[in-house]
Amino acid sequence: MPWQDEIERTFHQRKQQNRWRTRKRLQSAQGRTLNIDGQSLLNFCSNDYLALADHPALKRAAIAATETFGTGSGASHLVCGHQELHHQLERKIAALVGAEQAVVFSTGYMANLAVPQTFLGRNDLLLEDKLNHASLLDAGAISPVKMKRYPHLDVDAVDQALTGSNAKRKMVLTDGVFSMDGDVAPVRRLADLCERHDAMLVVDDAHGFGVLGANGAGLLQRENVSVSGNVLMVGTLGKAAGSFGAFIAGDAVYLQALIQFARTYIYTTALPPAVAAASIAAIDLIKSEAERRERLHSLIKRFRNEATDAKLPLMPSQTAIQPLVLGSEKNALAVDALLRENNILAIAIRPPTVTAGSARIRLTFRADHTDEDLDQLLAVLISDSFRRLLQPEEAE
Ligand SMILES: Cc1ncc(COP(=O)(O)O)c(C=O)c1O
Repeated sequence: MPWQDEIERTFHQRKQQNRWRTRKRLQSAQGRTLNIDGQSLLNFCSNDYLALADHPALKRAAIAATETFGTGSGASHLVCGHQELHHQLERKIAALVGAEQAVVFSTGYMANLAVPQTFLGRNDLLLEDKLNHASLLDAGAISPVKMKRYPHLDVDAVDQALTGSNAKRKMVLTDGVFSMDGDVAPVRRLADLCERHDAMLVVDDAHGFGVLGANGAGLLQRENVSVSGNVLMVGTLGKAAGSFGAFIAGDAVYLQALIQFARTYIYTTALPPAVAAASIAAIDLIKSEAERRERLHSLIKRFRNEATDAKLPLMPSQTAIQPLVLGSEKNALAVDALLRENNILAIAIRPPTVTAGSARIRLTFRADHTDEDLDQLLAVLISDSFRRLLQPEEAE
Protein backbone atom coordinates (compact mmCIF):
# COMPACT_ATOMS: atom_id res chain seq x y z
CA MET A 1 0.00 0.00 0.00
CA PRO A 2 2.02 2.99 -1.19
CA TRP A 3 -0.12 5.43 0.80
CA GLN A 4 0.62 3.62 4.07
CA ASP A 5 4.31 3.26 3.15
CA GLU A 6 4.49 6.99 2.68
CA ILE A 7 2.98 7.60 6.10
CA GLU A 8 5.38 5.10 7.66
CA ARG A 9 8.26 7.05 6.13
CA THR A 10 7.06 10.22 7.89
CA PHE A 11 7.00 8.23 11.14
CA HIS A 12 10.54 7.07 10.54
CA GLN A 13 11.69 10.60 9.86
CA ARG A 14 9.97 11.97 12.95
CA LYS A 15 11.60 9.30 15.11
CA GLN A 16 15.02 10.00 13.64
CA GLN A 17 14.61 13.67 14.46
CA ASN A 18 13.69 12.80 18.06
CA ARG A 19 10.30 14.40 17.46
CA TRP A 20 8.09 11.35 17.95
CA ARG A 21 5.17 12.00 20.30
CA THR A 22 3.45 9.54 22.61
CA ARG A 23 0.40 9.82 24.85
CA LYS A 24 0.75 9.06 28.53
CA ARG A 25 -2.16 7.23 30.08
CA LEU A 26 -3.28 8.82 33.34
CA GLN A 27 -4.86 6.64 35.99
CA SER A 28 -5.74 9.55 38.27
CA ALA A 29 -7.44 12.92 38.20
CA GLN A 30 -5.51 15.96 37.04
CA GLY A 31 -3.81 17.05 40.25
CA ARG A 32 -0.60 17.92 42.06
CA THR A 33 0.46 14.33 41.51
CA LEU A 34 -0.44 12.10 38.60
CA ASN A 35 -0.54 8.35 38.43
CA ILE A 36 0.97 6.96 35.24
CA ASP A 37 1.77 3.27 34.77
CA GLY A 38 1.75 2.73 38.52
CA GLN A 39 4.21 5.58 39.15
CA SER A 40 3.16 8.60 41.19
CA LEU A 41 4.65 11.70 39.59
CA LEU A 42 4.75 15.31 40.70
CA ASN A 43 2.87 17.27 38.07
CA PHE A 44 4.90 20.16 36.64
CA CYS A 45 3.30 20.22 33.22
CA SER A 46 -0.46 20.82 33.32
CA ASN A 47 -2.26 24.10 32.69
CA ASP A 48 -4.37 23.54 35.81
CA TYR A 49 -2.62 26.52 37.38
CA LEU A 50 -5.12 27.13 40.18
CA ALA A 51 -5.60 23.46 41.02
CA LEU A 52 -9.30 23.53 40.18
CA ALA A 53 -9.63 20.56 37.80
CA ASP A 54 -10.34 18.17 40.67
CA HIS A 55 -11.92 20.68 43.05
CA PRO A 56 -14.96 19.46 45.05
CA ALA A 57 -17.00 22.60 44.23
CA LEU A 58 -16.59 22.07 40.48
CA LYS A 59 -17.37 18.39 40.76
CA ARG A 60 -20.45 19.03 42.87
CA ALA A 61 -21.70 21.62 40.38
CA ALA A 62 -21.13 19.27 37.44
CA ILE A 63 -22.94 16.39 39.17
CA ALA A 64 -25.91 18.56 40.17
CA ALA A 65 -26.21 19.97 36.63
CA THR A 66 -26.11 16.48 35.18
CA GLU A 67 -28.85 15.32 37.54
CA THR A 68 -31.07 18.22 36.50
CA PHE A 69 -30.20 18.83 32.85
CA GLY A 70 -28.77 15.50 31.68
CA THR A 71 -25.47 14.78 30.00
CA GLY A 72 -25.66 16.15 26.49
CA SER A 73 -26.79 19.59 25.41
CA GLY A 74 -28.43 17.90 22.44
CA ALA A 75 -28.13 20.67 19.86
CA SER A 76 -26.18 23.71 18.82
CA HIS A 77 -26.72 27.05 20.57
CA LEU A 78 -28.92 28.44 17.81
CA VAL A 79 -31.19 25.40 17.65
CA CYS A 80 -32.15 24.31 21.17
CA GLY A 81 -28.86 23.57 22.97
CA HIS A 82 -28.41 26.95 24.66
CA GLN A 83 -29.11 26.23 28.33
CA GLU A 84 -29.83 28.77 31.03
CA LEU A 85 -26.50 27.59 32.51
CA HIS A 86 -24.63 28.78 29.38
CA HIS A 87 -26.32 32.12 29.77
CA GLN A 88 -25.37 32.40 33.44
CA LEU A 89 -21.80 31.44 32.64
CA GLU A 90 -21.58 34.15 29.98
CA ARG A 91 -22.92 36.74 32.41
CA LYS A 92 -20.38 35.75 35.06
CA ILE A 93 -17.48 35.88 32.63
CA ALA A 94 -18.55 39.27 31.27
CA ALA A 95 -18.77 40.64 34.82
CA LEU A 96 -15.35 39.25 35.74
CA VAL A 97 -13.51 40.65 32.73
CA GLY A 98 -15.52 43.89 32.69
CA ALA A 99 -17.02 43.43 29.25
CA GLU A 100 -20.51 44.16 27.98
CA GLN A 101 -20.97 40.57 26.89
CA ALA A 102 -19.26 37.19 26.60
CA VAL A 103 -20.08 34.22 24.41
CA VAL A 104 -19.02 30.70 25.31
CA PHE A 105 -17.39 28.50 22.67
CA SER A 106 -16.75 24.76 22.83
CA THR A 107 -12.94 25.15 22.80
CA GLY A 108 -10.34 27.87 22.69
CA TYR A 109 -9.24 26.57 19.34
CA MET A 110 -12.73 27.10 17.95
CA ALA A 111 -13.09 30.52 19.56
CA ASN A 112 -9.89 31.66 17.90
CA LEU A 113 -10.88 30.26 14.51
CA ALA A 114 -14.05 32.34 14.70
CA VAL A 115 -12.44 35.74 15.04
CA PRO A 116 -10.78 36.68 11.71
CA GLN A 117 -13.38 34.70 9.78
CA THR A 118 -16.19 36.75 11.33
CA PHE A 119 -14.67 40.20 11.16
CA LEU A 120 -12.36 40.34 8.17
CA GLY A 121 -12.82 40.17 4.42
CA ARG A 122 -10.43 39.47 1.58
CA ASN A 123 -8.94 42.98 1.38
CA ASP A 124 -8.51 43.56 5.10
CA LEU A 125 -5.34 43.31 7.16
CA LEU A 126 -4.54 40.70 9.82
CA LEU A 127 -1.35 41.01 11.86
CA GLU A 128 -0.19 38.17 14.10
CA ASP A 129 2.78 37.76 16.44
CA LYS A 130 5.21 35.19 15.06
CA LEU A 131 4.96 33.10 18.24
CA ASN A 132 1.16 33.03 18.39
CA HIS A 133 -0.52 29.78 19.33
CA ALA A 134 -1.25 27.36 16.48
CA SER A 135 -4.99 28.04 16.75
CA LEU A 136 -4.47 31.76 16.06
CA LEU A 137 -2.21 31.01 13.11
CA ASP A 138 -4.77 28.52 11.80
CA ALA A 139 -7.46 31.17 12.28
CA GLY A 140 -5.50 33.40 9.93
CA ALA A 141 -4.90 30.59 7.48
CA ILE A 142 -8.60 29.72 7.10
CA SER A 143 -9.85 33.30 6.88
CA PRO A 144 -10.16 35.04 3.52
CA VAL A 145 -7.63 37.67 4.54
CA LYS A 146 -3.90 37.49 3.94
CA MET A 147 -2.18 37.19 7.32
CA LYS A 148 1.09 38.97 8.06
CA ARG A 149 3.27 37.84 10.94
CA TYR A 150 5.35 40.35 12.86
CA PRO A 151 8.48 39.64 14.94
CA HIS A 152 7.69 38.53 18.48
CA LEU A 153 6.41 41.43 20.66
CA ASP A 154 7.57 44.02 18.10
CA VAL A 155 5.20 46.97 18.56
CA ASP A 156 7.14 49.12 16.07
CA ALA A 157 6.64 46.49 13.38
CA VAL A 158 2.91 46.51 14.14
CA ASP A 159 2.88 50.31 13.93
CA GLN A 160 4.63 50.25 10.57
CA ALA A 161 2.32 47.61 9.16
CA LEU A 162 -0.79 49.48 10.32
CA THR A 163 0.54 52.80 9.03
CA GLY A 164 1.48 51.30 5.67
CA SER A 165 -1.88 49.65 5.06
CA ASN A 166 -4.91 51.21 3.49
CA ALA A 167 -7.12 48.23 4.28
CA LYS A 168 -10.57 49.19 5.50
CA ARG A 169 -10.46 46.88 8.50
CA LYS A 170 -7.31 45.99 10.40
CA MET A 171 -6.85 43.47 13.19
CA VAL A 172 -3.97 42.62 15.52
CA LEU A 173 -4.20 39.14 16.98
CA THR A 174 -1.89 38.04 19.79
CA ASP A 175 -1.47 35.58 22.62
CA GLY A 176 -1.71 37.37 26.00
CA VAL A 177 0.64 35.00 27.82
CA PHE A 178 2.62 33.10 25.19
CA SER A 179 1.95 29.43 25.65
CA MET A 180 5.44 28.08 25.09
CA ASP A 181 7.58 30.99 26.36
CA GLY A 182 5.44 32.34 29.22
CA ASP A 183 6.22 35.96 28.38
CA VAL A 184 3.42 38.46 27.77
CA ALA A 185 2.28 40.66 24.90
CA PRO A 186 2.70 44.44 25.30
CA VAL A 187 -1.07 44.82 25.38
CA ARG A 188 -1.16 48.39 26.71
CA ARG A 189 0.96 49.68 23.83
CA LEU A 190 -0.84 47.50 21.30
CA ALA A 191 -4.21 48.78 22.53
CA ASP A 192 -3.10 52.41 22.19
CA LEU A 193 -1.70 51.75 18.75
CA CYS A 194 -4.83 49.95 17.60
CA GLU A 195 -6.98 52.77 18.88
CA ARG A 196 -4.92 55.30 16.88
CA HIS A 197 -5.32 53.21 13.73
CA ASP A 198 -8.92 52.24 14.38
CA ALA A 199 -7.79 48.61 14.34
CA MET A 200 -9.25 45.77 16.37
CA LEU A 201 -7.02 44.18 19.02
CA VAL A 202 -7.80 40.58 19.92
CA VAL A 203 -5.93 39.06 22.87
CA ASP A 204 -6.03 35.32 23.43
CA ASP A 205 -5.36 35.15 27.16
CA ALA A 206 -5.70 31.38 27.48
CA HIS A 207 -2.82 31.28 29.99
CA GLY A 208 -3.46 34.60 31.74
CA PHE A 209 -7.14 34.17 32.55
CA GLY A 210 -7.48 33.16 36.21
CA VAL A 211 -3.78 33.73 36.82
CA LEU A 212 -3.14 37.44 36.23
CA GLY A 213 -4.96 40.59 37.29
CA ALA A 214 -6.34 41.64 40.66
CA ASN A 215 -9.34 39.33 40.47
CA GLY A 216 -7.99 36.87 37.91
CA ALA A 217 -9.52 38.50 34.83
CA GLY A 218 -6.18 38.17 33.07
CA LEU A 219 -3.45 40.19 31.42
CA LEU A 220 -5.73 42.95 30.15
CA GLN A 221 -6.94 43.64 33.65
CA ARG A 222 -3.37 43.66 34.97
CA GLU A 223 -2.35 46.14 32.30
CA ASN A 224 -5.45 48.32 32.70
CA VAL A 225 -6.76 47.68 29.21
CA SER A 226 -10.52 47.54 29.18
CA VAL A 227 -12.31 44.83 27.21
CA SER A 228 -14.38 47.30 25.24
CA GLY A 229 -14.38 49.33 22.05
CA ASN A 230 -12.09 47.67 19.58
CA VAL A 231 -10.56 45.27 22.13
CA LEU A 232 -11.77 41.67 22.29
CA MET A 233 -10.56 39.07 24.73
CA VAL A 234 -10.46 35.31 24.24
CA GLY A 235 -10.13 33.15 27.34
CA THR A 236 -10.14 29.42 27.89
CA LEU A 237 -11.92 27.51 30.63
CA GLY A 238 -9.86 24.32 30.36
CA LYS A 239 -6.70 25.75 31.90
CA ALA A 240 -6.70 27.85 35.13
CA ALA A 241 -10.48 27.44 35.39
CA GLY A 242 -10.06 23.66 35.60
CA SER A 243 -13.07 22.99 33.38
CA PHE A 244 -13.45 23.02 29.59
CA GLY A 245 -14.43 25.38 26.80
CA ALA A 246 -13.65 29.00 26.08
CA PHE A 247 -15.13 32.45 25.64
CA ILE A 248 -14.85 35.64 23.67
CA ALA A 249 -15.69 38.87 25.51
CA GLY A 250 -16.17 42.43 24.34
CA ASP A 251 -18.78 44.93 23.19
CA ALA A 252 -22.23 43.49 22.52
CA VAL A 253 -22.23 44.39 18.85
CA TYR A 254 -19.12 42.29 18.19
CA LEU A 255 -20.47 39.43 20.25
CA GLN A 256 -23.73 39.50 18.35
CA ALA A 257 -21.73 39.31 15.12
CA LEU A 258 -20.08 36.14 16.41
CA ILE A 259 -23.45 34.62 17.31
CA GLN A 260 -24.77 35.44 13.84
CA PHE A 261 -21.77 34.61 11.68
CA ALA A 262 -19.06 32.55 13.45
CA ARG A 263 -19.04 29.12 11.84
CA THR A 264 -17.33 27.43 14.80
CA TYR A 265 -20.09 28.78 17.05
CA ILE A 266 -23.06 28.03 14.85
CA TYR A 267 -22.23 24.61 13.46
CA THR A 268 -21.38 22.67 16.60
CA THR A 269 -23.09 21.18 19.63
CA ALA A 270 -23.23 23.37 22.74
CA LEU A 271 -21.09 22.41 25.74
CA PRO A 272 -22.67 19.86 28.10
CA PRO A 273 -24.57 21.41 31.05
CA ALA A 274 -22.12 19.81 33.53
CA VAL A 275 -19.22 21.66 31.91
CA ALA A 276 -21.03 24.99 32.03
CA ALA A 277 -21.91 24.42 35.70
CA ALA A 278 -18.31 23.49 36.59
CA SER A 279 -17.10 26.63 34.82
CA ILE A 280 -19.52 28.78 36.81
CA ALA A 281 -18.18 27.27 40.05
CA ALA A 282 -14.63 27.94 38.80
CA ILE A 283 -15.33 31.60 38.05
CA ASP A 284 -16.68 32.02 41.58
CA LEU A 285 -13.46 30.54 43.00
CA ILE A 286 -11.24 32.59 40.69
CA LYS A 287 -12.91 35.70 42.04
CA SER A 288 -13.20 34.75 45.70
CA GLU A 289 -9.95 32.85 46.35
CA ALA A 290 -7.22 35.31 45.45
CA GLU A 291 -4.90 33.31 47.68
CA ARG A 292 -4.62 30.69 44.92
CA ARG A 293 -3.06 33.30 42.63
CA GLU A 294 -0.90 34.65 45.44
CA ARG A 295 0.44 31.20 46.22
CA LEU A 296 1.13 30.53 42.55
CA HIS A 297 3.05 33.78 42.17
CA SER A 298 5.10 33.18 45.29
CA LEU A 299 6.08 29.73 43.96
CA ILE A 300 7.05 31.25 40.63
CA LYS A 301 9.12 33.91 42.37
CA ARG A 302 10.95 31.41 44.53
CA PHE A 303 11.60 29.14 41.56
CA ARG A 304 13.00 32.00 39.49
CA ASN A 305 15.21 33.26 42.32
CA GLU A 306 16.76 29.88 42.95
CA ALA A 307 16.98 29.00 39.26
CA THR A 308 18.73 32.31 38.59
CA ASP A 309 21.24 31.62 41.36
CA ALA A 310 21.84 28.20 39.85
CA LYS A 311 22.28 29.78 36.39
CA LEU A 312 19.55 27.66 34.82
CA PRO A 313 18.54 28.62 31.25
CA LEU A 314 15.43 30.57 32.25
CA MET A 315 13.35 32.60 29.85
CA PRO A 316 12.05 36.12 30.63
CA SER A 317 8.73 34.86 31.98
CA GLN A 318 7.01 35.95 35.19
CA THR A 319 4.04 33.66 34.65
CA ALA A 320 3.20 30.07 35.59
CA ILE A 321 4.91 28.88 32.39
CA GLN A 322 8.65 28.61 33.06
CA PRO A 323 10.46 26.97 30.16
CA LEU A 324 14.09 25.88 30.31
CA VAL A 325 15.53 26.04 26.83
CA LEU A 326 17.84 23.13 26.08
CA GLY A 327 18.42 23.42 22.34
CA SER A 328 18.29 19.99 20.79
CA GLU A 329 15.42 17.55 20.87
CA LYS A 330 17.77 14.95 22.29
CA ASN A 331 18.68 17.10 25.28
CA ALA A 332 15.09 18.03 25.98
CA LEU A 333 14.13 14.35 25.94
CA ALA A 334 17.03 13.47 28.21
CA VAL A 335 15.87 16.05 30.78
CA ASP A 336 12.29 14.80 30.46
CA ALA A 337 13.60 11.29 31.27
CA LEU A 338 15.84 12.50 34.10
CA LEU A 339 12.92 14.26 35.76
CA ARG A 340 10.75 11.22 35.37
CA GLU A 341 13.40 9.03 37.01
CA ASN A 342 13.06 11.44 39.91
CA ASN A 343 9.26 11.12 39.99
CA ILE A 344 8.57 14.43 38.27
CA LEU A 345 6.54 14.90 35.13
CA ALA A 346 7.52 17.82 32.90
CA ILE A 347 7.38 17.49 29.17
CA ALA A 348 9.95 18.05 26.44
CA ILE A 349 8.50 20.51 23.95
CA ARG A 350 10.09 20.08 20.54
CA PRO A 351 9.71 21.40 17.01
CA PRO A 352 7.42 21.99 15.22
CA THR A 353 5.66 23.23 18.39
CA VAL A 354 8.69 25.48 18.97
CA THR A 355 11.34 26.61 16.48
CA ALA A 356 14.24 24.31 15.59
CA GLY A 357 17.09 24.58 18.08
CA SER A 358 14.84 25.79 20.91
CA ALA A 359 13.55 22.49 22.28
CA ARG A 360 12.77 22.91 25.94
CA ILE A 361 11.28 21.58 29.11
CA ARG A 362 8.10 23.52 29.76
CA LEU A 363 7.68 23.65 33.52
CA THR A 364 4.37 24.88 34.82
CA PHE A 365 3.39 25.68 38.38
CA ARG A 366 0.16 25.12 40.25
CA ALA A 367 -1.23 26.75 43.35
CA ASP A 368 -1.18 23.51 45.34
CA HIS A 369 2.52 22.75 44.84
CA THR A 370 4.19 22.60 48.24
CA ASP A 371 7.58 24.04 49.12
CA GLU A 372 8.85 20.46 49.28
CA ASP A 373 7.63 19.85 45.73
CA LEU A 374 9.67 22.81 44.59
CA ASP A 375 12.69 21.55 46.58
CA GLN A 376 12.36 18.22 44.80
CA LEU A 377 12.27 19.88 41.37
CA LEU A 378 15.17 22.21 42.09
CA ALA A 379 17.27 19.36 43.47
CA VAL A 380 17.11 17.64 40.08
CA LEU A 381 17.73 20.86 38.17
CA ILE A 382 20.89 21.67 40.09
CA SER A 383 22.20 18.09 40.05
CA ASP A 384 25.33 17.14 38.09
CA SER A 385 23.20 14.87 35.87
CA PHE A 386 21.18 17.90 34.74
CA ARG A 387 24.22 20.14 34.35
CA ARG A 388 25.86 17.63 32.04
CA LEU A 389 22.83 17.93 29.77
CA LEU A 390 23.28 21.68 29.60
CA GLN A 391 26.70 21.08 28.01
CA PRO A 392 25.89 18.70 25.19
CA GLU A 393 29.40 18.45 23.70
CA GLU A 394 30.89 17.34 26.98
CA ALA A 395 27.99 14.97 27.57
CA GLU A 396 28.41 13.13 24.25
C1 LIG B 1 -2.72 30.35 23.69
C2 LIG B 1 -3.72 29.26 23.49
N1 LIG B 1 -4.86 29.55 22.85
C3 LIG B 1 -5.80 28.61 22.63
C4 LIG B 1 -5.62 27.32 23.06
C5 LIG B 1 -6.68 26.31 22.76
O1 LIG B 1 -7.58 26.22 23.80
P1 LIG B 1 -8.46 24.89 23.96
O2 LIG B 1 -7.56 23.87 24.57
O3 LIG B 1 -9.60 25.29 24.81
O4 LIG B 1 -8.88 24.49 22.58
C6 LIG B 1 -4.44 26.97 23.74
C7 LIG B 1 -4.17 25.61 24.25
O5 LIG B 1 -4.83 24.69 24.29
C8 LIG B 1 -3.47 27.96 23.96
O6 LIG B 1 -2.33 27.67 24.58
